[in-house]
Amino acid sequence: MDSLVLTSFLKNNSGNYDAQRGTNDILLVLVDAIKEVAILMRAGELAGILGNADTENVQGEVQKKLDVVANKIFIKHLLREKKILALISEENEDPIFNSKSDDSGYVVYFDPLDGSSNIDVNGAVGSIFSIVKFSKKPTLKELLKPGKEQVLAGYSVYGPSTMLIFSSGDGVHGFTLDYESLNFCLSHERMLVPPETGEYAINTSNGRFWEPPIVQYVAECNRGVGGDRKKNFNMRWTGSMVADIHRILVRGGIFMYPKDNKVPLKEGRLRLLYEANPMSYLVEHAGGMSSTGRMRILDIVPRNFHQRIPLIIGSKIEVERIVWHHKNYDAGDGLKYNSPLFDSASFFSED
Ligand code: AHG
Ligand code: MN
Ligand code: MN
Repeated sequence: MDSLVLTSFLKNNSGNYDAQRGTNDILLVLVDAIKEVAILMRAGELAGILGNADTENVQGEVQKKLDVVANKIFIKHLLREKKILALISEENEDPIFNSKSDDSGYVVYFDPLDGSSNIDVNGAVGSIFSIVKFSKKPTLKELLKPGKEQVLAGYSVYGPSTMLIFSSGDGVHGFTLDYESLNFCLSHERMLVPPETGEYAINTSNGRFWEPPIVQYVAECNRGVGGDRKKNFNMRWTGSMVADIHRILVRGGIFMYPKDNKVPLKEGRLRLLYEANPMSYLVEHAGGMSSTGRMRILDIVPRNFHQRIPLIIGSKIEVERIVWHHKNYDAGDGLKYNSPLFDSASFFSED
């Protein structure tokens, strides 16, 4: 297949190439890291990268060997670039400042390996990244920017093929890695999330810990054609958000990792700065929607570097419906939501 390689695409498609040059340069450094991770990943156990690293990260999670290796690869490549002022990684408690950086430039927030429990079973995993521009070297507090300030966001997905998906505000574009030339080639132009879907993704083993609006939403999906949604839903959960969101960007759907009371102090499972923000930027630019259930993700001002957040993201009609359930519940209809007999059809008929 004769398709446009990434470098040519960036030259042809950056409305104002000079203005975009900075972000494009950072993207190309990220691509170097992604290719190195992809090549290593392809070798799997032959490269000795499966299994645990016998260490824990800042969030108390056992690290996989590949979490550690991928993090090192990203840091090595990113710190070479003088336009990068600092890095914030899932695997490092504190930001890493680039001692050789210019006075102004970019900060990269990243999850070097997402869905790491899939590594040992040869399932799809990915890397997620987000770029914010700074006119001077930021203080620690200034690094906590809301997601709407991102200038580029994207992810790579290492599946049957390796893909790179990104947006810098003008459409969401998908590239596939050609392992012969080691070029990323344009394969999915202007990806769009269809507004309607019949597919949802949530870890139902947490069902007993969910808030009532989520219990209600999942129940109404599962009632299928006989319920008030009047259609059947299918469920998919890969254990890797990158793979689940990639499916949504290709064929629609909704992904939920809501707030639950499993560990009551935790606001959610996924992290705002390097998981929820970049994915929300991409999905919004593809015509979808992203919310905590009560607030737009991209408007949230982060409180700390590893803050967790509830995430409800994907096809607009479904996200809007879940936001509607939260509104009704918070407005005092909690009793109805807690009733096992409650069906949102009765909600409509009482209005
Ligand atoms: P990470 O591997 O970076 O820690 O992230 C894993 C995340 C996300 O990719 C996935 O959707 C979710 O954790 C899976 O959580 P459960 O194991 O609770 O299903
Ligand atoms: Mn992750
Ligand atoms: Mn990770």
